[in-house]
Amino acid sequence: MNKPLHHAAQDTAFEVRGYLNQAMTGASVIRALRGMHPIELKNNLLASRAYQEANRVFEGLEISQSIPYEIQREDNPVASFWPFTKVTAERIANMIDKYQSIALLGTPTVFGLLSSRRDDRALLFEHDEYFFPDGIVPGFIKCDVVRGVPRSYDDQFEFVFADPPWYLGDYFAWLETATRIVRPAGSVAFVLYPERIRESAGAERNKILALAREIFEDVSIKRNVIDYETSSFEQIQMIRNGIRPIDWRSADVLVGRTRKRKFQDQEIKISSATTDWIERRVGTGRVFIDLKPASVASFLETADASSRFLSSPSLRNAARLRANVITSRGHALCCSEPFLLISLIESIRQFSDLALLKPRVPDNSWSLFQLFATDLWGRFVVIDQT
Ligand SMILES: C[S@@+](CC[C@H](N)C(=O)[O-])C[C@H]1O[C@@H](n2cnc3c(N)ncnc32)[C@H](O)[C@@H]1O
Repeated sequence: MNKPLHHAAQDTAFEVRGYLNQAMTGASVIRALRGMHPIELKNNLLASRAYQEANRVFEGLEISQSIPYEIQREDNPVASFWPFTKVTAERIANMIDKYQSIALLGTPTVFGLLSSRRDDRALLFEHDEYFFPDGIVPGFIKCDVVRGVPRSYDDQFEFVFADPPWYLGDYFAWLETATRIVRPAGSVAFVLYPERIRESAGAERNKILALAREIFEDVSIKRNVIDYETSSFEQIQMIRNGIRPIDWRSADVLVGRTRKRKFQDQEIKISSATTDWIERRVGTGRVFIDLKPASVASFLETADASSRFLSSPSLRNAARLRANVITSRGHALCCSEPFLLISLIESIRQFSDLALLKPRVPDNSWSLFQLFATDLWGRFVVIDQT
């Protein structure tokens, strides 16, 4: 069960005070907190009135919300896309160097790096084509890792590397796929999320580890070897909280070897929680729409009462749970007629088309629709509280 907020906040403030007394910098305090989001950290410190500590941790990391901010890559919030840093992608590429047949599950960054080196030993199993807009790329198998990896790949790979969405159900389902496609006595490595990304994460890690020890031999954990860039949608959410969107997230890697003869009929069938979202583009931005209409009075409303942007990337955020329209730039909206929204979006071929849509946008939703489409069109976005 989650601790009451005020306890969690006070515990965090106490811990942070300890780190600051050891003269740690703000960035190293954030790293020491093993996955606690900087937004949550700031909220915890402010909730427990640890203003001095908040100032010291976030000193130099302040950012004004009203300055245009450049988005360089449009990351997928539905697929929980957290991109590796270049250094990490290179570290993983070196780690797999000794293998001849490699399966990469959900790691387009590593696959992209190998492809750029003309290294064709790896296949990528991944459902998002964003990184390969030019069409067919040899070695990219577009599929659902949970249900869609063809049987012809069973027992094929010497090494499998995976970075699933950071949820227990996804890990169990992805482990099942990995054990199916790796050869007997082959190796498997999974990114393992840190203990404090949410209240239950420590217990979830233990369950993942327990399962790994059942199905693999020589299980070990390499701590803090994976670093991430902050994804585009999360950058906006950090700016909304006045925090410069630094790269702060890191994780461990769990490594194991399958047994000479693999277990049969393992009972690890827990499916992942992915729902189907339709993707469309507006200018450079990506929009993800769940076709189930939101029960709201207007055609389009913000999911968060105070802004069209989310205040946190957490899936447990109430606005995120309500929203049936989310974007690569952190928007969360509720739409009562998703099919109409898709048709409007599809009518915007160039920016000047937007103004022509005013008569087609129902009730009083025009200004929100216009703002939303304008945010997504170009490379720059201004975050404010509307
Ligand atoms: C946590 S991200 C890992 C990205 C990785 N760190 C990188 O930089 O390449 C999860 C990845 O798995 C993909 N993904 C999520 N669920 C999937 C599924 N069911 N089937 C296939 N790919 C999936 C996402 O599109 C995303 O690329």
